[in-house]
Amino acid sequence: MFKGFRVGAVTLSAVMLAAASGAQNPKATLSIQLDKPLHAVSPTLYGLMTEEINYSYDGGLYAEMVRNRTFYDHGWSGVPHWNLVHVGNADAIMTVDETDGPSEALPRSLLLNVSKADPENQAGVRNEGYWGMAVHPGTTYIGSFYAKADTGDIGPISIALIGDNTGSALASATSEPLTTVWKKYEFTLKTGNVETSSENHLRLTVGHAGKVWLSLVSLLPPTYKNRENGNRIDLMEKLAAMHPQFLRLPGGNYLEGDTVEERFDWKATIGPMVDRPTHRSPWDYQSSDGLGLLEFLEWTEDLHIQPVLAVYAGYSLKGAHVPPGAGLSPYVNDALDEIEFLTGDAASTKWGAVRAKLGHPAPFPLTYVEIGNEDTFDHSGSYEGRYAQFYKAIKTRYPQLQLIATMPLKQMKPDVVDDHYYQRADEFFDLVKHYDSVDRNGPKIFVGEWATREGGPTTNFGAALGDAAWMTSLERNSDLIVMASYAPLFVNVNPGGMQWESDLIGYNALSSYGAPSYYAQSMFAEYLGTEVPASALQGGSHRFFYSVTRDAAKGKVYLKLVNANSTPQPLEINLDGAGKVGESGILVTLGAANPAETNTISAPTRIVPVKTTLKDVGSTFSHTVPGYSVQVLEISAR
Ligand code: AHR
Repeated sequence: MFKGFRVGAVTLSAVMLAAASGAQNPKATLSIQLDKPLHAVSPTLYGLMTEEINYSYDGGLYAEMVRNRTFYDHGWSGVPHWNLVHVGNADAIMTVDETDGPSEALPRSLLLNVSKADPENQAGVRNEGYWGMAVHPGTTYIGSFYAKADTGDIGPISIALIGDNTGSALASATSEPLTTVWKKYEFTLKTGNVETSSENHLRLTVGHAGKVWLSLVSLLPPTYKNRENGNRIDLMEKLAAMHPQFLRLPGGNYLEGDTVEERFDWKATIGPMVDRPTHRSPWDYQSSDGLGLLEFLEWTEDLHIQPVLAVYAGYSLKGAHVPPGAGLSPYVNDALDEIEFLTGDAASTKWGAVRAKLGHPAPFPLTYVEIGNEDTFDHSGSYEGRYAQFYKAIKTRYPQLQLIATMPLKQMKPDVVDDHYYQRADEFFDLVKHYDSVDRNGPKIFVGEWATREGGPTTNFGAALGDAAWMTSLERNSDLIVMASYAPLFVNVNPGGMQWESDLIGYNALSSYGAPSYYAQSMFAEYLGTEVPASALQGGSHRFFYSVTRDAAKGKVYLKLVNANSTPQPLEINLDGAGKVGESGILVTLGAANPAETNTISAPTRIVPVKTTLKDVGSTFSHTVPGYSVQVLEISAR
């Protein structure tokens, strides 16, 4: 069930307003033959897809509060997101030392050169977080950093969460005294009765002159399911409420990178943070890789969903490709190792043992592996050969896996093809019949990325109508379409947070909200059904769309009705072939006064589903779908 259901006066009146505009569409008749199932609904139909874009992981789902924690980002304008702190007459300067770091993976650090400080007049640095740091009362924050000093006299580091507006410490701690060798220091910060706010920063200071080198400064709030190095609770709860069945990981362009070197090199994203070198996302910022391969898998585990693993296949965004043959073999071997990391036995396989050593002895479930991403953009034409080479190697070792191609192929039939759609609402209205006539003897379809792109940073109600219309076609064709995932999921709504306009879930450091499309998807996925019965619609407007599914075991029929007109759509609904139809059911309505209406970070629940009782149901009954609305009807029928 949604956390967000509301019998809300605002939302209901918006729906009624649209309905009250006078005219209505010609009456339509929807005839459903419950005793004539056409095909099963794919149980994995709805899932998740995102990547390091729009500060989705760093500054988003990944709960880390410290920005630029490994000082990778630095240059002509200093060290972004870090500033000096001088209390009283203390004095210090900071630079990035490119020659000294805590590990081979992190060969640099922040050098704080303190010329003057004492315990009352400390000097140090502060980090501003990802557009602030969310601090809540009565909460424990877990922190750590790596440090060394040029002298043992320097003493401990004082750590504090400080309110930006007051300069007061909201929680503080003191580390062990520093030594002259690199060491990890851990601390906890516990807040008392403080105000909830994101206008805070983290401060690290010393009370003695000398040099201090710092790296991998980390601070994490409580996380979803208390995962160490885990995910933000509010965002994970929003994902869980979407009733997803899978996560396509690690993303689209993020898998490929701008160059081969900047691909998602999974082996560099596992193990202790200090051994992760970080890498540049093609969306123009550095990824901390705190959300690495194992964290992706733990994310799927926490939501009880399956990973759909995309493996790097030798093509990167700026055009570099690795031709099929011996040169591609290391990448094929990397993919085989990756599959073994997910599924291999902890005792008898090399990468299964690595996974176990990292704390996860049990293998993860895996059915689908995608080879590459959007390889239509590889104009060299090498994908046929690259796919074939990966296919042969993977199928030889893992014949049970279904291998997804990122484009249709001429020389072989892939198990599944990944189709992507980024459309306007009207384009989706025109596309709803597209899959009805696609050859059922060809590959299965994964709609791995789709979205109605209207509104930003998150989409508006008009986009929800386009999305809902599109989902009626996904359900009707779910004999062919095995999975579908909207993209991208996330956007940090702060200035500079967005690289891709029109996203599903928006947030800042403190709170988050779903676009109307988020609710439309959650409604469709919650009432999925297990089979598609025969049905026919006569009459009705050309912007009215529907899907019917049934769950015979539960004795339920689900109708998804999408009215993209401003005027109501009257319907006569005939349920044939059921012994007994319940007199009442459930009606869930998502509606708005006009397509431009939307939810925002400051008005997060303007458009949310409203759940009521559906009355006067029978084997034949009348129902009117309000203008600009998406409805789900749950009816008991045995
Ligand atoms: O979802 C945003 C981008 O769109 C993905 O990275 C890419 O696969 C597609 O082009």
